[in-house]
Amino acid sequence: MYGMVNKAIQDLVSTNFGEDKWLAIKEKVGFEDDFFISMQSYPDELTYDLVGAASEVLELEPAAILEAFGEYWILYTAEEGYGEMLALSGSTLAEFLGNLNLLHERITNIMPQLKPPKFSTKEISENQVELTYESDRDGLTSMVVGLLRGLGKRFGKNCEINQTEFRADSGKDVFNVSW
Ligand code: HEM
Repeated sequence: MYGMVNKAIQDLVSTNFGEDKWLAIKEKVGFEDDFFISMQSYPDELTYDLVGAASEVLELEPAAILEAFGEYWILYTAEEGYGEMLALSGSTLAEFLGNLNLLHERITNIMPQLKPPKFSTKEISENQVELTYESDRDGLTSMVVGLLRGLGKRFGKNCEINQTEFRADSGKDVFNVSW
């Protein structure tokens, strides 16, 4: 994944748990450079290793790390120069969720090696959407839950998120999101 993702994990840990915890995580995964380069693509394994090491060092389940990371990503991208892109992706939560593929398509213009996830939505009612998430990558479902929480906050909505279908059963995750 692009270095920006690993950088956001670093930022999340340093800000919320302290620099010493980040250094312990970095040492555990054996990452020897001083920093990640946002626009450089790194092996996915590094990101998974960072989540695993963070889980050990912070004594939190990997799912909790991924969920916190997803929520943080909404704030992080807004501050790292993608605020306008986020703003252009929708003026309501429902509209935004419907534009997730378009958003990642736009990002592919500046990050050509991006391997984005795939989303689709079905509007159930004015304040309820069914969101389907598919990816070539495994194990990131909890990140989507965090992303949805972060988006809910961004739009000032108290979201209820219920997963109704699971990748292990049908190859895709489906969430019922209501607010
Ligand atoms: C402007 C904001 C955003 C930027 C710059 C961005 C960029 C990225 C990048 C760089 C990756 C790593 C994939 C790779 O390097 O191949 C990624 C992955 C991902 N993004 Fe976004 N993204 C943004 C917003 C969102 C939002 C709002 C969602 C909400 C659902 C989302 C969902 C995901 C998921 C679930 C992944 C994990 C990869 C996977 O499932 O295969 N992203 N995105």
